[in-house]
Formats: sequence, structure tokens, C-alpha cells
Amino acid sequence: MSGTIRVDVPLGDRSYPVLVGDGARHELASVLRESKLTAGAQRAAVITQPGIGVDIDPGIGFETFEIPDGEQAKELSTIGELCSRFTRFGLTRRDVVVGVGGGVVTDVAGFAAAVYHRGVAVVHVATTLLGQIDAAVGGKTGVNLAEGKNLVGAFWQPAAVLCDTEVLDTLPERELRAGYGELAKYHFIGCTPQAAQLIGSHPSLARRLEGGEPLSSLEGAELVAACVAIKAEVVASDETEGGRRALLNYGHTLGHALEIAGRFDLRHGEAVAIGLRYAAVVARVLGRIDDDRVAEHERVVAAYGLNASLPHGIDRDEIIELFGRDKKAAGGITFVLDSPDGLEVVPGIDPGVLRSALERM
Ligand code: GLY
Repeated sequence: MSGTIRVDVPLGDRSYPVLVGDGARHELASVLRESKLTAGAQRAAVITQPGIGVDIDPGIGFETFEIPDGEQAKELSTIGELCSRFTRFGLTRRDVVVGVGGGVVTDVAGFAAAVYHRGVAVVHVATTLLGQIDAAVGGKTGVNLAEGKNLVGAFWQPAAVLCDTEVLDTLPERELRAGYGELAKYHFIGCTPQAAQLIGSHPSLARRLEGGEPLSSLEGAELVAACVAIKAEVVASDETEGGRRALLNYGHTLGHALEIAGRFDLRHGEAVAIGLRYAAVVARVLGRIDDDRVAEHERVVAAYGLNASLPHGIDRDEIIELFGRDKKAAGGITFVLDSPDGLEVVPGIDPGVLRSALERM
């Protein structure tokens, strides 16, 4: 489709395209024909949620499987039910699962695809900003347990991802805000020349990013494509999060703690926005960055219309305890922190530093 920007996720013989632009969902049939993982598929199991209502045509026989709305769909029983329904539909290992929706759908569809018949191809049609710039790309799939979020899952890379920016126009403002914090995060990870080169289909955008054009000058499909390229480059360098991929969690340690505390009515992006400012304040307390850089975090977050103050009624002891339960906390409380050389994963942070940073917020 003319105008669609192609970003490649370079994973050797498992490399795949992410197509970004208005109407990208209409590329589904040709993507399924062209990918070597899906070219022989005779049927598609389309997984979506009732509220999504995005029309797609896989160009092969398909059945639609709805999972419940909301985060409660992300549980093991949903995976078991889907796999039973795939069996009754006659889905084979040569066929394909298509996830149409936001992060909940792509996490569930990807995990069901990873385990059904020990692995069947999956293609994601990401319909939310958060899904397009984060959840659908990079192969993290999984569900929640009563004990915590995303505790069971698999790395299962898709055969392709379609990010249709046209469908973002119909998203409620609050749903868009769920993605804005992630957009702000990419400003601080930054676009490397290697990331810019992954946007080979749009040489002028690639050149501008290689020349250091800031993300804040981009909008629409160009902005989504730039974020996807940054993520693609990080994922390709550390697919299973042995180290560098954790940079994609910048701002998420406090963000997740606020979400887990559960009483602040924050969308993911809103929690990450507060977490970005907090990570900057922690870095400031540790003397890693100066006041100007903290102010830059505040400016970027505010530019997306996001609040960066702690919610009322926060319990600092509870938040610090939740930091210790974070999946990154293997070597003591771990944060992604800024420095003059860029972001780094920093283990073993003193709780006193974290408390002092909470007091400065
Ligand atoms: N959402 C962070 C990652 O994919 O690693």
C-alpha cells in the first residue's frame, strides 16, 4: 500500500516486517501470502475483543474468537479455552493465528499461538497506540496470575505486525493516553543510526532520524514508525532480555508499582509518565544527571498532556516494597536510570535514595 512505512525487526531467519500507516490492516491478506511462515496457511483463527470492531480480511477461511474485554481476559483459562476452540475449528500447525486489538489481545493471541501444537505462526493487527509502539512488537506474550502481571508467558515472535494508524482516530482520548507515556519513554531511549536504518522503506525519515531529528518533530505514522524502529533495534540486540532490552522499561518501575497498588485509576501510560519523572529524580539524587535534564523529562511528559505528580494518598513504604517485587529486582531493587551517556540498568539501589526521591516528587 502506498504510504505505508515498513520497519524491519532484524532477527536473522525470524526477521519480520512491521507495516505502519493509514489502512495498513488492508495489507493482511498479502502479508499472509508473502511471509514464509504463513504462505501455506489455509485458515486463520482471528482473536479479538467485543469492543474492538476493526474489520480485517485475511484472504483465507477464518473464524473469529472473541475473548472478554479488559485485562481480566489475560488469564490461563482464556488460553485453554482458545486452544480447545482452535481444535474444534481444525487449526493446524501450518495455519495462522491473527490477533486484532491492543496489548491484551496481542499478549493472549501470541501466547495461545506459542503453545498451540507447540507453536503456530501469529500475525498481529495492532489497533491501539500502546499496542503499535510496544506490545505487538518484540515477541513478549503472556497472561497474569493472581500473584502478579505477566508471570506466565513465552517469547514468540510474530510473522508480521500491522499498525493501522487510521484506527487510532477512533480511540477514546483516555485510550490514547495509555500510549502517550510510552511515546515519552522513546524520547529518552533515543533513535540510534542502526534503528533509523530499519526504516528502509522511508529513506527521508530514516535520513532525518539518522541526522538526529527529535521524535517531538514527528507525528502520525512517522512517529509510530520511529518508535517501532527504536524498539526493533533494542529487541534485535537482546531478544530475551538478558540485559539491554530492559531499557524499554524506562519509567516502568514506579509505573508498575502504581498500577499494582491498584487504587489510583491510572492508565498504563499515565503511570509510566509519573515513573519517567521519578526515574529522573532518582538519577538526580544519585548525582547521575543535573536539574536541566530532570526539567527535560518534565517538559517531554507535559508535551503529551500527561501529569507527572504522584497521586494523592500514596503510601511510600508500600511503593518501596513493590519495587522489591519487580521482575527486574534479582540483584536488589533495579531501575533503568539516565546518565550523560544514556540509559543504563542499575541494580542494588539503596531504598533510602528511592524514599528521598519520592519525597522530592
Ligand atoms: N514492553 C517491553 C518489552 O517488550 O520488552
